[in-house]
Amino acid sequence: MTAETTVPTVPASDKSMEELVGLCKRRGFVFPASEIYGGLNGFWDYGPLGTELKNNLRDAWWRDMVKCPPNGPDGEPLTIVGLDSAIIQNPKVWEASGHVGGFSDPMQTCRICKKLFRADHVWEMLKESKWVSDFAESISLTDWGDSVSVNSDDAMKWASKKGRKLAPGLALSTDAVATMAALSQALENDPQMQLDFPTLLQYVATGPKAEGGLVTPCPNCGGDLTEPRDFNLMFRTFIGAAATEDDVAYLRPETAQGIFLNYKNVNDTMRVKVPYGIAQIGKSFRNEVTPRNFIFRSREFEQMEMEWFCPPDDAKEWYEFWVDQRHRWWKSVGLTDENLVRRDHDDDELAHYSTACADVEYRYPFTAPGFGELEGISHRGCYDLTKHQEFSKTKLEYFDQERNTRYMPHVIEPAAGLSRGVLAILCEAFTPDPGRPSKVFMKFHPRVAPIKAAIFPLVNKDGMPEIARKLYNDLRTRYDVQLDIKQNIGKRYARMDEAGTPYCFTIDSDTLTDQTVTVRERDTLAQERIGIDQVVAYLSKQIDESNRD
Ligand code: GAP
Repeated sequence: MTAETTVPTVPASDKSMEELVGLCKRRGFVFPASEIYGGLNGFWDYGPLGTELKNNLRDAWWRDMVKCPPNGPDGEPLTIVGLDSAIIQNPKVWEASGHVGGFSDPMQTCRICKKLFRADHVWEMLKESKWVSDFAESISLTDWGDSVSVNSDDAMKWASKKGRKLAPGLALSTDAVATMAALSQALENDPQMQLDFPTLLQYVATGPKAEGGLVTPCPNCGGDLTEPRDFNLMFRTFIGAAATEDDVAYLRPETAQGIFLNYKNVNDTMRVKVPYGIAQIGKSFRNEVTPRNFIFRSREFEQMEMEWFCPPDDAKEWYEFWVDQRHRWWKSVGLTDENLVRRDHDDDELAHYSTACADVEYRYPFTAPGFGELEGISHRGCYDLTKHQEFSKTKLEYFDQERNTRYMPHVIEPAAGLSRGVLAILCEAFTPDPGRPSKVFMKFHPRVAPIKAAIFPLVNKDGMPEIARKLYNDLRTRYDVQLDIKQNIGKRYARMDEAGTPYCFTIDSDTLTDQTVTVRERDTLAQERIGIDQVVAYLSKQIDESNRD
């Protein structure tokens, strides 16, 4: 019996984040943190399937970076060792690293509703704002770049009804007559003025008093935003019972510093020679001004970072090596080439420690057709080691025996988000397919799929459950498999499609006579019969080989 269809490929722009978030909740991938208390903005919990998915991605990274790192340009395997450092370190660490002084985002506050916004996110948020889309609809706007002509009566009508409710802080909502008069006056004074939608939004937010220039409206209520000011992103806490300002400590905002702090320990204990790397996976915390887009930007998240210590003269070559390696690695866990891109940072975007940086970007549904950051590969030079040497008064220079010279190693840092990687994988896998009962399936690469195979007896009688249970017991010590006996077979397939299980094995009446089972392949829906004694070999071929890709 074979029922084959072609595997649907769905462009990112056709995937709905709302539906994906719904599936993640329904199938136990990701839940809002503290949900029964109304949630907590910027925090998420991983459910049973999400935890498996995240652990699989984490383990794939650890295997390919630490246990079996790639070969270097000379064809020899690289040396990378692992580390697990404390989340809270001596607060001087963050002074030395520049985070106390420089790790901040520009923030604006609404003078009316008091909400905070990251200054560089305000226009993006206006595009998603409810009152803005409603206002745009009321003036029949189709494209933000179009020139607009506004009928004063329509705008005032919108202001008196919807505007007052949706955007109570907007000048147009509080004084429509004076606001529209000021706009007509401005157009009369400057007949050449191109009134596009963003400019119109600024006029309807500014109202009659434009002496200080046009204001940008609040995405929440339309109110007036303060000038941007810097907001430090580090979470503060206190060590010990006194909890005075002298006891302040910080939750780490990146895992990287723990590596620099232990660089000398590793050098002295592990018989490593520069060039080599130290890798770490763990939680980081940032008090983000506007956490958004599901788990893309959260306040607690996991990172997978590696610091590659190398001679200064070779750093440029290693930088290119790692940008290329990391781009390729994301494909080995199932992201497609067409949704990945390299983006080199302009000089004015570089972080305080970085002399060059390239991002591996992914096309998320909420950035499509554009891309958003997934991982940054940074050339940190000798910034961190030099700063820690200066602040700690501990010598961190390296004596290179081969070159017979002493230097401060330069560092290339591939810094990936584990949580963000999970999001990219969820987005890539999410495949609407109206033809199947679940209407959607998760096309996970077998390497990261939370459940590798499901075992179903066709019916819960005639000896089939016993055979299924035996097969399950034979497989469960090697692979993440599930035995599912209840409900009709269609519903069980649908559940596994949403969980992204690549293979389902069904025991039916033929199994009783010829010891064969049906294998159903998730993406193509192809079905074939194989001997029950061939199942281990089948999975080994499909799954173990995909681990070696
Ligand atoms: N040590 C360098 C460093 O931390 P970064 O670009 O700030 O660099 C590295 O962070 C990666 O961590 C990002 O590419 C992203 O994947 C992830 N990341 C950063 N902030 C995040 C947040 N608020 N929520 C989720 N992931 C985040």
